[in-house]
Amino acid sequence: MRKHIVAANWKMNKTFQEGMALIEDVYKTLDGYKPNCEVLICPPSYFLGAIDKKYCDKLTFGAQDCSEHTSGAYTGEISAPMIASTVAKAVIIGHSERRAYHNEGSEMLAKKVDQALEAGLRPVFCVGEKLDQREDGTYMEVVAKQVKDALFHLSDKDFAKIILAYEPVWAIGTGKTASADQAQEMHANIRKVVAEKYGQEIADNCTILYGGSCKGENAPELFAKPDVDGGLIGGASLEASKFLPIIKAFD
Ligand code: G3P
Repeated sequence: MRKHIVAANWKMNKTFQEGMALIEDVYKTLDGYKPNCEVLICPPSYFLGAIDKKYCDKLTFGAQDCSEHTSGAYTGEISAPMIASTVAKAVIIGHSERRAYHNEGSEMLAKKVDQALEAGLRPVFCVGEKLDQREDGTYMEVVAKQVKDALFHLSDKDFAKIILAYEPVWAIGTGKTASADQAQEMHANIRKVVAEKYGQEIADNCTILYGGSCKGENAPELFAKPDVDGGLIGGASLEASKFLPIIKAFD
């Protein structure tokens, strides 16, 4: 079901004490305030088993990745069933940093999506073009291929559980945000590609988030676009004072 979501991707940041303090800070900033969006926090996975369920009345939690395997001799990996055994309800899959640094391609990502769905987690599936693909004009077909190659094996019922996140690689961590029009153009095209495969109803109900230097200053214009359903936030999610204005962009 399409919904407004502001998601935090902490990436590899925060010690245990710092992170638990940040969760408390974000939770407290929502005191007496009901956001017009779901607030999803994706800390490093080691936090998930220690987060008190009391936070779940206002916050949803997720992981930043999961294994393509269910269990076994895969040193260092964390499986979707392990994640699902905690407070987590979602998992980011296919972030550009994992695609780049861990050589994660569509075949592996499709398996990770299947693992997440099998474990009852909502995949937050990331797509996005590199700067050269934006500059040479191939960005639309690149992103459409990322969606098709990793997700279009899914049944209608399973695809309907997917949250998509468009994160132009050239905007991640650079302070160079895509314009609201650029984001809208891509989100609308992603929705069109989904409609061609799964029909208009499933496409219209698909949540598509924007990520890439989304801040309190630019979130209102981005989120006002008809096909932008929220954000996947990196740097600005690491301080409650910077994260709250993005949540409030839906007020
Ligand atoms: O997953 C979200 C992230 O890639 C965006 O990072 O720091 O540009 O908000 P940032």
